[in-house]
Amino acid sequence: MRIKKLRVPVSPWFKDFEVILMTNKLSLTVNNIKHTLASIPGETLSSLLRERLRLTGTKIGCDEAECGACTVLVDGEPVVSCIYPAERADGKTIVTIEGLASIALSGATRQASADEAQALGATSAPSASLDASHLDSPLSARLHPLQEAFVEHGAVQCGFCIPGQIMTAYALLERNPNPTKDEIRFALKDTLCRCAGYPTIENSILAAAESLRTGEPIRKPNIPDSIHVHKSVGHTHLRPDGIEKVNGKAIYTDDLVFDGMLYAKAKRAMIPHGFLTKLDISKAKALKGVVAVLTAEDIPGEHNHGLVIFDWPVMVGVGERVRYVGDALAIVAAESQEIAEQASALIEAEFDLQPVITNPVQARQAQVPQIHEKGNLLKHIKVRKGDMEKGFAEADVILEHTFHTPIYDHAFIEPECSIGMPLPDGRMEIYCGSQIPYQDRTQVARALGWEESRVRIVGQLMGGGFGGKEDVMGQIHVAMLAHVTQRPVKLLFDRHESLLVHPKRHATQIRVKIGAKKNGRIVACESELYGDTGAYASLGEKVMTRATTHSAGPYDIEHVRADCYAMYTNNPPAGAFRGFGVTQSAFAVESMMDMLAEKLNIEPVELRRMNALHVGSITNTGQELRESVGLMECIDKVSSAMCQVSGLPEKELFKPRVVPSSPALLPSGEGSESPSPSGRGVRGEGHLVRAWGFAAGYKNTGLGGGAPDKSGAEVEVYDNGTFEVRSSSAEMGQGLVTVMQTIVAEEMAVQPNQVRVLVMDTDLTPNGGPTTASRQTYVTGNASRYAAKTLRDAITSTMAEKYDVRPEQIRFENGIVHANGYSMTYAEVAKEMKAAGQQPRALYEYEAPKTQPLGTGGDMHFAFSFGVQAAEVEINKLTGEVRVLRVISANDVGMAVNPLGLQGQVEGGVMMGLGNALTEEFIMDNGYVVTDHLARYRIPGIMLTPEITSIIVEHPTAEGPYGAKGVGEICSIPTTPAITNAIYNAVGVRIDKLPVDQELIAREIWERKAYNSDH
Ligand code: FES
Ligand code: FES
Repeated sequence: MRIKKLRVPVSPWFKDFEVILMTNKLSLTVNNIKHTLASIPGETLSSLLRERLRLTGTKIGCDEAECGACTVLVDGEPVVSCIYPAERADGKTIVTIEGLASIALSGATRQASADEAQALGATSAPSASLDASHLDSPLSARLHPLQEAFVEHGAVQCGFCIPGQIMTAYALLERNPNPTKDEIRFALKDTLCRCAGYPTIENSILAAAESLRTGEPIRKPNIPDSIHVHKSVGHTHLRPDGIEKVNGKAIYTDDLVFDGMLYAKAKRAMIPHGFLTKLDISKAKALKGVVAVLTAEDIPGEHNHGLVIFDWPVMVGVGERVRYVGDALAIVAAESQEIAEQASALIEAEFDLQPVITNPVQARQAQVPQIHEKGNLLKHIKVRKGDMEKGFAEADVILEHTFHTPIYDHAFIEPECSIGMPLPDGRMEIYCGSQIPYQDRTQVARALGWEESRVRIVGQLMGGGFGGKEDVMGQIHVAMLAHVTQRPVKLLFDRHESLLVHPKRHATQIRVKIGAKKNGRIVACESELYGDTGAYASLGEKVMTRATTHSAGPYDIEHVRADCYAMYTNNPPAGAFRGFGVTQSAFAVESMMDMLAEKLNIEPVELRRMNALHVGSITNTGQELRESVGLMECIDKVSSAMCQVSGLPEKELFKPRVVPSSPALLPSGEGSESPSPSGRGVRGEGHLVRAWGFAAGYKNTGLGGGAPDKSGAEVEVYDNGTFEVRSSSAEMGQGLVTVMQTIVAEEMAVQPNQVRVLVMDTDLTPNGGPTTASRQTYVTGNASRYAAKTLRDAITSTMAEKYDVRPEQIRFENGIVHANGYSMTYAEVAKEMKAAGQQPRALYEYEAPKTQPLGTGGDMHFAFSFGVQAAEVEINKLTGEVRVLRVISANDVGMAVNPLGLQGQVEGGVMMGLGNALTEEFIMDNGYVVTDHLARYRIPGIMLTPEITSIIVEHPTAEGPYGAKGVGEICSIPTTPAITNAIYNAVGVRIDKLPVDQELIAREIWERKAYNSDH
């Protein structure tokens, strides 16, 4: 093979970079179009597709062959294109998500026109405007049945994994048109979805396969409507962004390119604790292709950022303290990603290393180093109700136990990406995925020393967030680099950097002491919590406050005391993560509930019924629950569903059941493999054992604790009679856009596809506040509703005046406004209002009911969601392996605005809880990250998916939109303790440390057997 040096752009915007090229050309057919391209040594197929052909539907989630998001077909076989050498694709036929529908519809191959690749790469820099009008024509006309089924069945959430899922499924159906569920699971076993609607993905594939075999339309999913039906609200609706997410046209931040764009890389400290004594950037600056290298000295404004407390350095300066491995020391902008990375590696740093604080208990000890000036204590949080001493004196039984939970990572499939774009008028645009666009704006402006109005955040589609995209990551860095270079700058985290830098779920140590009467009435609960908030505050105080206030569970207990110490350590910062601290405390208290039930010889379900919060209860923080408490209904419905599926009465549910077909063990040496560490077998006993476990939970909706909780929304009717609803609130896959669209459709009496949704843009959308605490359906749902009502009132006035009728005589029906015999379309209404000098739009800022700070009594929160789950596990007593077979999840969500979206949330929540219990752990070693690749952080895949039954319970809350409360977090909270309680019920091993150590289960079983046989 001859090699010669050529001048060829690595990207179309970098003209002077020299690379060694093979004279070999690369010929390949992509989506029926033949391309002949220069071969670039080392190039991967994903880079060729994304960067040279601008086919950005193929996504990069890990770049290490772990997630499957980049799957394309090469000669009909699914391959992960992030590691597939482009050279190997020579002469082959490639199909990407963009080509699926056209291949299905035409199949003809043609030669690429000269400008085709460039045309494919037309830069798109959209706001996240989601138009549903394409739903006017049938999906089947433009989508492959698989794509259509994914949309119809609600398998699409954030959408980032979906191209990989669909391409893998397509390859399966090509070779097996009638797959079983097991065959689907096996085919998709390496394609991860963190939104994790795996059951719905399975059903979508089955529906598509059936349609392809029979020629019949895609079978619709069987999702019941809300019991509180309205015209639009409460029925199933398709996502307005669903089609773009299945056909590869959805644009996420890394899909954007701009003329003259530079690429950035941050130099990270990579030591957990020390003082930066020297930083030499000279070699990096001298590297050809480097345009800027900035350090802390170059920060024009405030040096620290943060969501509540500004304690997180934008960059650590010489003489300053490094507090975790992910601290930034310098940032580089260069003509290519490769050069930026080389330059970053050339930056030399020296440190005066300090002792490392590795956990929150150690951090509170006297004599340990203080990580921040004010010490290691971020916050001591206290909950007090009643009289603890009196409560425990009244108790007949007192139990006390300590539980541990590790650090967890969000592991959203889309890593963080930000692009800074300097504007000619001196302003700065930031393109990014953000859960709090207006907070990003504040933090960028502070660091630049600018007025906030000079910064615009243009939020892009997010490939998952789960709380992990609330803090700024690259936003400030790209703003600084773009300002200095006056060129667009992109900073894309690779998976390693993403794992290293962004805030995690708090590791906790939780001691619970619980006292009860013999009859099962709990009289006292005392908790002591330690939360590892890592190097910086992020939302640590808020998260650990929720962990503390919910630490006695959803129970009516007269005497409660909880103390929490949120401590700084030298681990990565911990912040928001779905469940917001309640995930950890629910594991502890729900384990204690089962321990108490056993001690009192009361069934676990019954113990919870006896103590469940109800209307009239007073919570731990002194709040009277006056409405909307569906906990008892959740308990009853899950209990009867368990009885129904298992055929067992309630009192038998929690006993272990040996699986009849599991083979009896033979003693060692009788033809079986040695079944135990000791070599002993258990004659006549099946090795697979099943049991159910049960757990309950509750979770506040909204910020609470006295924080003003507001959201703004604007609704406008256009001259063509369509509507737009706007709010900065974030869509990260959870389905807020469908909620907003449906609500406005309801209020304006139009079809949802008449309503476009625009979100996450600080110039174009009013402030919707943070997407956190399951608040958006409630607050932005209400803001959208009242904005639509305000517009309706304005239309009513216009019509009443025009036709000289009373306002009560105006009716809104099926897209027409009626006025006592007259009528107008919305298109006519919009023109009429403009002619009358009125703007056909309305802005509404909704403020949720006031709440009280912790410790002051009264309403700390304006609503709570309640959830109950039962999990059936099967345990292999030889190995300790735990399989979750079924999960039944009932959630009181107030009212189901979009039951299809709710289904996806519940499935994803359960899978996240399952990962929390069994597979996930973010491992640190003395301040260094061990789980620094996706391969080392095991999120559950489709093979681990149990059968998930979702039961929607609707106890409306008066102030919520149509009665709705949140669901995003509650559906994940009881899963882990339901699983660990089931493990105990099956084999008698109490799990008090997560994730479950399955080897430990086996060891305990064998040690117990050994003990029993010796006594
Ligand atoms: S990006 Fe290729 S497998 Fe994850
Ligand atoms: S839809 Fe699969 S990762 Fe979000």
